[in-house]
Amino acid sequence: MIPAAGAGDCAPHWPRRLTVLGATGSVGRATLEVVAEDPGRFEIEALTAHRRAGELARLARRHRARLAVVADPAAYGELREALAGSGIEAAAGPRAVVEAAMRPSELVMAAIVGAAGLEPTLAAVRRGAVVGLANKECLVSAGELFVREVATHDAVLLPVDSEHNAVFQALAGNPRRHLERIVLTASGGPFRTASREEMARATPDRALAHPNWRMGAKITVDSATMMNKGLEIIEAHHLFGLDERAIEVVVHPQSVVHGLVVFTDGSVLAQLGPPDMRVPIAHVLAWPSRLATGVARLDLVALGRLDFEAPDPARFPALTLAREALRRGGGAPTVLNAVNEIAVEAFLAGRIGFLDIARTVEEALATPLAAVRPGTLEEVLRLDAEARTWTRRRLRLAGQHGSADRA
Ligand SMILES: NC(=O)c1ccc[n+]([C@@H]2O[C@H](COP(=O)([O-])OP(=O)(O)OC[C@H]3O[C@@H](n4cnc5c(N)ncnc54)[C@H](OP(=O)(O)O)[C@@H]3O)[C@@H](O)[C@H]2O)c1
Repeated sequence: MIPAAGAGDCAPHWPRRLTVLGATGSVGRATLEVVAEDPGRFEIEALTAHRRAGELARLARRHRARLAVVADPAAYGELREALAGSGIEAAAGPRAVVEAAMRPSELVMAAIVGAAGLEPTLAAVRRGAVVGLANKECLVSAGELFVREVATHDAVLLPVDSEHNAVFQALAGNPRRHLERIVLTASGGPFRTASREEMARATPDRALAHPNWRMGAKITVDSATMMNKGLEIIEAHHLFGLDERAIEVVVHPQSVVHGLVVFTDGSVLAQLGPPDMRVPIAHVLAWPSRLATGVARLDLVALGRLDFEAPDPARFPALTLAREALRRGGGAPTVLNAVNEIAVEAFLAGRIGFLDIARTVEEALATPLAAVRPGTLEEVLRLDAEARTWTRRRLRLAGQHGSADRA
């Protein structure tokens, strides 16, 4: 599924036709920034967004996209108006996003946030496209099914998440039998040194103040709870076919070493780079070649030191919960992901406390929902919807009794 990283510097065919799902987001915009550095190499087939039609139209005009799609039908009028006279096709609705992914681009950047990215990303997989996978939630939510579809349709998955991209690069074509384990690094987020009491009082603004990375709100909160690293363990399991015990997490506050591969002879290969998503994005856009980027270069002397710490499971229970969901398999990761998405939304809306996020996920994993074993995409989507409904009910109940944000 993941191609051999050392597939050689065979000249890719340029220009490459590219579709960006989630073009208005942090990864989507970074993708288009890389494209703008060398515009002759890319033709933009389609760009999609949720409802930020004005921003989508601006990007579509700037990059001469053929098609622009908003998932929210209510944003269609604004999109059409903003594209008037441009010759760019406009469309709206979740089905139109799926259809955008089906259009004949060679490379699809899957950068929608959350399980909303699942169906469009699968549509790209099912036509055998090369998919740059930023959207980790779709692999968490429907991992086994997703991996099966990739294999059935001979699609190629290229990891965009910086840690997985680092592992992909460090594997460098080595046979899988020589691989002992991988190490994913975590920045530790804004609460790396905070006590449970401080975390219990955390506001959305505090949680959104990430020390190293500028990302969308959902992944930034996931980073603060370390659920992001939990989701990444599940993502790595599916991408690299590794047992959960062979995926280690190490806190590395400088976010310079992104991922490491430990081989059976004791050699460790790592990928380093500045904490800038344009680096893994450029790697994926040009794979198996490379693009020149204007990203600031690492200055190791100025950096001076690289620190590593063990994660603290008592302050960051989300990591343990994700490992448990992965070990249980079936629908447990689907439930973990769906409940986390709703809980993060509720936290950002000021309805629950920061510690309630992991607590709600823990409660959900103890319900019969987490024991369901979905076998088809429809069953995954049904379970995802049921878990969301359960969470909304649970959080309303918690609100009536006063959210118990205990330390
Ligand atoms: N940001 C990073 O540095 C980073 C790094 C590694 C992995 N990732 C992963 O990449 C994905 C995107 O993250 P991000 O930080 O770029 O997110 P983001 O900034 O919040 O952007 C999300 C994108 O998805 C669109 N979207 C949201 N809900 C949608 C829906 N229901 N249907 C269709 N489109 C929808 C948004 O459109 P609107 O703008 O119209 O709302 C936007 O274009 C996530 O899975 C994240 O975990 C991100």
